[in-house]
Amino acid sequence: MATQFFTYKGIPFPCLEYSPETLDYVDRQFQVQDDDIFNITYPKSGTNWMLEILSLIRCDGDPSWVRSVLNLRRAPWIETNRGLQNALRYPPPRLLSSHLPIQLFPRSFQSSQAKVIYTLRSPKDVLVSLYHFSQALHLYKDPGPMDAFLQDFLSGNLHYGSWFDHVAGWLGLRGQKNFFYITYEELQQDLQGSVVRICHFLGKKLSEEQISSVVKNASFQTMRENQMSNGSQIPDEYMDHQKGQFLRKGVSGDWKNLLSEEQSHRITTMSCERLHGLGIDFPWD
Ligand code: PPS
Repeated sequence: MATQFFTYKGIPFPCLEYSPETLDYVDRQFQVQDDDIFNITYPKSGTNWMLEILSLIRCDGDPSWVRSVLNLRRAPWIETNRGLQNALRYPPPRLLSSHLPIQLFPRSFQSSQAKVIYTLRSPKDVLVSLYHFSQALHLYKDPGPMDAFLQDFLSGNLHYGSWFDHVAGWLGLRGQKNFFYITYEELQQDLQGSVVRICHFLGKKLSEEQISSVVKNASFQTMRENQMSNGSQIPDEYMDHQKGQFLRKGVSGDWKNLLSEEQSHRITTMSCERLHGLGIDFPWD
Protein backbone atom coordinates (compact mmCIF):
# COMPACT_ATOMS: atom_id res chain seq x y z
CA MET A 1 0.00 0.00 0.00
CA ALA A 2 1.56 3.32 -1.08
CA THR A 3 1.54 5.85 1.74
CA GLN A 4 0.50 9.40 0.93
CA PHE A 5 2.11 12.24 2.84
CA PHE A 6 1.41 15.91 3.33
CA THR A 7 3.80 18.48 4.73
CA TYR A 8 2.83 20.61 7.68
CA LYS A 9 5.20 23.45 8.60
CA GLY A 10 8.03 21.65 6.83
CA ILE A 11 7.41 18.23 8.41
CA PRO A 12 5.97 15.21 6.56
CA PHE A 13 2.93 13.45 8.02
CA PRO A 14 1.01 10.44 6.66
CA CYS A 15 -2.44 11.27 5.23
CA LEU A 16 -3.89 8.22 6.96
CA GLU A 17 -4.94 9.33 10.45
CA TYR A 18 -3.34 12.81 10.23
CA SER A 19 -4.55 16.08 8.71
CA PRO A 20 -3.39 19.69 8.51
CA GLU A 21 -6.64 20.72 10.25
CA THR A 22 -6.00 18.47 13.23
CA LEU A 23 -2.37 19.59 13.51
CA ASP A 24 -3.45 23.19 13.29
CA TYR A 25 -6.11 22.70 15.96
CA VAL A 26 -3.61 20.96 18.24
CA ASP A 27 -1.10 23.75 17.80
CA ARG A 28 -3.43 26.74 18.21
CA GLN A 29 -6.56 25.68 20.00
CA PHE A 30 -5.92 22.59 22.08
CA GLN A 31 -6.28 23.59 25.73
CA VAL A 32 -3.63 22.00 27.88
CA GLN A 33 -4.83 21.54 31.47
CA ASP A 34 -2.61 21.99 34.51
CA ASP A 35 -3.19 18.39 35.58
CA ASP A 36 -2.34 16.88 32.17
CA ILE A 37 0.59 14.49 32.02
CA PHE A 38 2.26 14.21 28.61
CA ASN A 39 4.25 11.21 27.42
CA ILE A 40 6.43 12.65 24.67
CA THR A 41 8.96 10.99 22.39
CA TYR A 42 10.34 10.82 18.89
CA PRO A 43 8.89 7.61 17.37
CA LYS A 44 10.46 4.30 18.41
CA SER A 45 12.09 5.77 21.51
CA GLY A 46 10.09 3.84 24.10
CA THR A 47 6.74 5.65 23.94
CA ASN A 48 4.63 2.61 24.70
CA TRP A 49 6.97 1.46 27.40
CA MET A 50 6.64 4.82 29.15
CA LEU A 51 2.88 4.77 28.49
CA GLU A 52 2.70 1.45 30.33
CA ILE A 53 4.82 2.73 33.22
CA LEU A 54 2.69 5.87 33.58
CA SER A 55 -0.53 3.88 33.34
CA LEU A 56 0.64 1.55 36.10
CA ILE A 57 1.85 4.40 38.30
CA ARG A 58 -1.53 6.06 37.91
CA CYS A 59 -3.18 2.88 39.23
CA ASP A 60 -0.72 2.42 42.11
CA GLY A 61 0.77 -0.62 40.39
CA ASP A 62 -2.58 -2.36 39.87
CA PRO A 63 -2.42 -3.96 36.37
CA SER A 64 -6.22 -4.16 35.79
CA TRP A 65 -6.31 -0.98 33.67
CA VAL A 66 -3.38 -1.92 31.42
CA ARG A 67 -4.88 -5.38 30.94
CA SER A 68 -8.34 -4.15 30.00
CA VAL A 69 -7.92 -0.87 28.10
CA LEU A 70 -5.96 -0.40 24.89
CA ASN A 71 -2.80 1.72 25.31
CA LEU A 72 -4.03 4.16 22.64
CA ARG A 73 -7.07 4.80 24.81
CA ARG A 74 -5.15 5.12 28.05
CA ALA A 75 -2.95 7.88 26.63
CA PRO A 76 -4.20 9.06 23.22
CA TRP A 77 -1.85 10.65 20.69
CA ILE A 78 -3.17 14.19 20.51
CA GLU A 79 -1.96 14.82 16.95
CA THR A 80 -3.85 12.02 15.18
CA ASN A 81 -7.43 12.59 14.05
CA ARG A 82 -8.82 9.88 16.29
CA GLY A 83 -6.40 10.52 19.14
CA LEU A 84 -7.45 14.15 19.33
CA GLN A 85 -11.13 13.20 19.65
CA ASN A 86 -10.24 10.77 22.43
CA ALA A 87 -8.10 13.40 24.16
CA LEU A 88 -10.96 15.90 24.05
CA ARG A 89 -13.31 13.37 25.64
CA TYR A 90 -10.80 12.26 28.27
CA PRO A 91 -11.97 13.00 31.82
CA PRO A 92 -9.28 14.81 33.84
CA PRO A 93 -6.61 14.20 34.90
CA ARG A 94 -5.50 13.23 31.40
CA LEU A 95 -2.64 11.03 30.37
CA LEU A 96 -1.71 11.99 26.82
CA SER A 97 0.95 10.98 24.30
CA SER A 98 2.63 12.82 21.47
CA HIS A 99 5.48 12.48 19.01
CA LEU A 100 5.21 16.13 18.01
CA PRO A 101 8.34 18.27 17.84
CA ILE A 102 8.15 21.12 20.31
CA GLN A 103 7.38 23.77 17.71
CA LEU A 104 4.13 21.98 16.77
CA PHE A 105 3.08 21.21 20.34
CA PRO A 106 0.00 23.04 21.74
CA ARG A 107 1.02 26.60 22.48
CA SER A 108 -1.27 26.63 25.53
CA PHE A 109 1.31 24.33 27.18
CA GLN A 110 3.62 27.29 27.69
CA SER A 111 1.34 28.93 30.22
CA SER A 112 0.28 25.70 31.93
CA GLN A 113 1.69 23.58 34.72
CA ALA A 114 1.10 20.36 32.81
CA LYS A 115 3.90 17.84 33.23
CA VAL A 116 5.97 16.47 30.38
CA ILE A 117 7.94 13.25 30.50
CA TYR A 118 10.28 13.09 27.53
CA THR A 119 11.86 9.74 26.73
CA LEU A 120 14.75 9.56 24.31
CA ARG A 121 16.79 6.70 22.93
CA SER A 122 20.05 6.19 21.05
CA PRO A 123 19.48 7.58 17.55
CA LYS A 124 21.04 4.46 16.05
CA ASP A 125 18.56 2.18 17.82
CA VAL A 126 15.71 4.55 16.93
CA LEU A 127 16.75 4.35 13.29
CA VAL A 128 16.94 0.56 13.30
CA SER A 129 13.66 0.14 15.18
CA LEU A 130 11.99 2.57 12.78
CA TYR A 131 13.51 0.81 9.80
CA HIS A 132 11.96 -2.50 10.82
CA PHE A 133 8.65 -0.98 11.88
CA SER A 134 8.31 1.00 8.64
CA GLN A 135 8.34 -2.27 6.72
CA ALA A 136 5.19 -3.33 8.55
CA LEU A 137 3.27 -0.15 9.34
CA HIS A 138 1.35 1.24 6.36
CA LEU A 139 1.27 4.67 7.95
CA TYR A 140 5.00 5.07 7.38
CA LYS A 141 6.68 5.08 4.02
CA ASP A 142 8.55 1.98 2.87
CA PRO A 143 12.10 2.50 4.17
CA GLY A 144 13.82 1.07 1.06
CA PRO A 145 17.55 0.28 1.43
CA MET A 146 19.18 1.31 4.72
CA ASP A 147 21.50 3.84 3.10
CA ALA A 148 18.59 5.81 1.64
CA PHE A 149 16.63 5.53 4.89
CA LEU A 150 19.65 6.75 6.85
CA GLN A 151 19.89 9.72 4.53
CA ASP A 152 16.22 10.55 5.22
CA PHE A 153 16.85 10.16 8.95
CA LEU A 154 19.84 12.50 8.87
CA SER A 155 18.07 15.11 6.78
CA GLY A 156 14.83 14.87 8.79
CA ASN A 157 12.86 13.76 5.76
CA LEU A 158 10.68 11.41 7.84
CA HIS A 159 7.30 11.62 9.54
CA TYR A 160 7.75 13.85 12.59
CA GLY A 161 10.91 15.33 11.07
CA SER A 162 14.43 15.24 12.39
CA TRP A 163 15.36 13.23 15.48
CA PHE A 164 18.13 15.77 16.16
CA ASP A 165 15.73 18.74 16.06
CA HIS A 166 13.20 16.87 18.17
CA VAL A 167 15.69 16.07 20.91
CA ALA A 168 17.37 19.48 20.86
CA GLY A 169 13.97 21.20 20.92
CA TRP A 170 12.48 19.28 23.83
CA LEU A 171 15.66 19.15 25.88
CA GLY A 172 15.70 22.91 25.68
CA LEU A 173 13.05 22.71 28.44
CA ARG A 174 15.31 20.95 30.93
CA GLY A 175 15.54 22.84 34.17
CA GLN A 176 11.82 23.68 34.00
CA LYS A 177 10.08 22.10 36.96
CA ASN A 178 7.29 20.59 34.88
CA PHE A 179 9.74 18.85 32.51
CA PHE A 180 11.44 15.51 33.13
CA TYR A 181 13.54 13.52 30.69
CA ILE A 182 14.86 10.01 30.81
CA THR A 183 16.52 7.68 28.34
CA TYR A 184 15.37 4.29 27.13
CA GLU A 185 18.81 3.05 28.18
CA GLU A 186 18.26 4.24 31.77
CA LEU A 187 14.92 2.44 31.84
CA GLN A 188 16.70 -0.71 30.76
CA GLN A 189 19.60 -0.41 33.16
CA ASP A 190 17.48 0.33 36.21
CA LEU A 191 13.73 0.18 35.71
CA GLN A 192 12.97 0.21 39.42
CA GLY A 193 15.14 3.29 40.07
CA SER A 194 13.63 4.97 36.99
CA VAL A 195 10.10 4.33 38.26
CA VAL A 196 11.05 5.86 41.61
CA ARG A 197 12.39 8.96 39.81
CA ILE A 198 9.26 9.26 37.66
CA CYS A 199 7.03 8.95 40.74
CA HIS A 200 9.06 11.64 42.45
CA PHE A 201 8.58 13.96 39.46
CA LEU A 202 4.84 13.25 39.42
CA GLY A 203 4.53 13.74 43.16
CA LYS A 204 3.17 10.21 43.46
CA LYS A 205 3.97 8.10 46.50
CA LEU A 206 3.99 4.35 45.88
CA SER A 207 4.96 1.60 48.30
CA GLU A 208 7.84 -0.75 47.47
CA GLU A 209 5.33 -3.42 46.60
CA GLN A 210 3.45 -1.11 44.24
CA ILE A 211 6.70 -0.08 42.55
CA SER A 212 7.64 -3.74 42.09
CA SER A 213 4.29 -4.31 40.44
CA VAL A 214 4.91 -1.41 38.04
CA VAL A 215 8.30 -2.90 37.17
CA LYS A 216 6.92 -6.40 36.70
CA ASN A 217 3.96 -5.33 34.56
CA ALA A 218 6.01 -2.96 32.40
CA SER A 219 8.61 -5.58 31.56
CA PHE A 220 9.14 -6.43 27.90
CA GLN A 221 7.87 -9.97 28.42
CA THR A 222 4.71 -8.95 30.27
CA MET A 223 3.92 -6.23 27.76
CA ARG A 224 4.46 -8.65 24.91
CA GLU A 225 1.85 -10.97 26.39
CA ASN A 226 -0.64 -8.16 27.02
CA GLN A 227 -2.95 -7.71 24.04
CA MET A 228 -3.77 -4.19 25.21
CA SER A 229 -0.10 -3.21 24.88
CA ASN A 230 1.59 -5.42 22.31
CA GLY A 231 0.25 -3.89 19.10
CA SER A 232 -1.71 -7.00 18.14
CA GLN A 233 -4.90 -4.91 18.06
CA ILE A 234 -3.55 -2.54 15.38
CA PRO A 235 -5.97 -3.14 12.48
CA ASP A 236 -4.65 -4.83 9.32
CA GLU A 237 -5.50 -1.64 7.46
CA TYR A 238 -2.62 0.01 9.35
CA MET A 239 -0.13 -2.78 9.83
CA ASP A 240 1.00 -5.99 8.18
CA HIS A 241 1.49 -8.17 11.25
CA GLN A 242 3.39 -10.76 9.20
CA LYS A 243 6.08 -8.22 8.42
CA GLY A 244 6.90 -6.91 11.85
CA GLN A 245 6.19 -6.79 15.54
CA PHE A 246 5.42 -3.78 17.65
CA LEU A 247 7.46 -5.11 20.56
CA ARG A 248 10.26 -6.40 18.37
CA LYS A 249 13.44 -7.01 20.41
CA GLY A 250 13.39 -4.44 23.19
CA VAL A 251 17.16 -4.23 23.53
CA SER A 252 19.84 -1.56 23.29
CA GLY A 253 22.57 -1.77 20.68
CA ASP A 254 20.67 -3.74 18.03
CA TRP A 255 21.98 -1.17 15.53
CA LYS A 256 25.28 -3.08 15.59
CA ASN A 257 23.53 -5.88 13.68
CA LEU A 258 22.41 -3.64 10.86
CA LEU A 259 24.52 -0.51 10.47
CA SER A 260 27.96 -0.46 8.85
CA GLU A 261 30.80 1.35 10.58
CA GLU A 262 30.48 4.16 8.08
CA GLN A 263 26.71 4.52 8.65
CA SER A 264 27.20 4.50 12.41
CA HIS A 265 29.93 7.11 12.08
CA ARG A 266 27.64 9.43 10.12
CA ILE A 267 25.08 9.39 12.94
CA THR A 268 27.75 9.93 15.60
CA THR A 269 29.13 12.89 13.67
CA MET A 270 25.75 14.55 13.28
CA SER A 271 24.90 13.91 16.95
CA CYS A 272 28.11 15.62 18.02
CA GLU A 273 27.45 18.56 15.72
CA ARG A 274 23.82 19.01 16.65
CA LEU A 275 23.63 18.08 20.32
CA HIS A 276 27.03 19.01 21.70
CA GLY A 277 25.74 22.42 22.77
CA LEU A 278 23.25 20.82 25.17
CA GLY A 279 26.13 19.75 27.40
CA ILE A 280 24.55 16.36 28.13
CA ASP A 281 26.49 13.09 28.25
CA PHE A 282 24.19 10.65 26.48
CA PRO A 283 24.46 7.01 27.61
CA TRP A 284 25.13 5.53 24.17
CA ASP A 285 27.97 5.20 21.57
S1 PPS B 1 6.10 3.98 18.50
O1 PPS B 1 5.50 3.15 17.42
O2 PPS B 1 6.86 5.10 17.93
O3 PPS B 1 5.11 4.44 19.47
O4 PPS B 1 7.15 2.99 19.19
P1 PPS B 1 7.78 3.14 20.65
O5 PPS B 1 6.86 2.55 21.64
O6 PPS B 1 8.26 4.53 20.86
O7 PPS B 1 9.10 2.26 20.54
C1 PPS B 1 9.06 0.89 20.23
C2 PPS B 1 10.36 0.28 20.73
O8 PPS B 1 10.31 0.19 22.17
C3 PPS B 1 10.52 -1.17 22.54
N1 PPS B 1 9.81 -1.49 23.78
C4 PPS B 1 10.42 -1.96 24.88
N2 PPS B 1 11.72 -2.20 25.14
C5 PPS B 1 12.02 -2.71 26.36
N3 PPS B 1 11.11 -2.97 27.32
C6 PPS B 1 9.79 -2.74 27.10
N4 PPS B 1 8.91 -3.02 28.05
C7 PPS B 1 9.40 -2.20 25.84
N5 PPS B 1 8.22 -1.84 25.27
C8 PPS B 1 8.49 -1.41 24.03
C9 PPS B 1 9.97 -1.96 21.33
O9 PPS B 1 10.39 -3.29 21.35
C10 PPS B 1 10.56 -1.14 20.20
O10 PPS B 1 11.98 -1.29 20.05
P2 PPS B 1 12.66 -2.37 19.09
O11 PPS B 1 14.12 -2.01 19.13
O12 PPS B 1 12.09 -2.20 17.73
O13 PPS B 1 12.38 -3.69 19.69
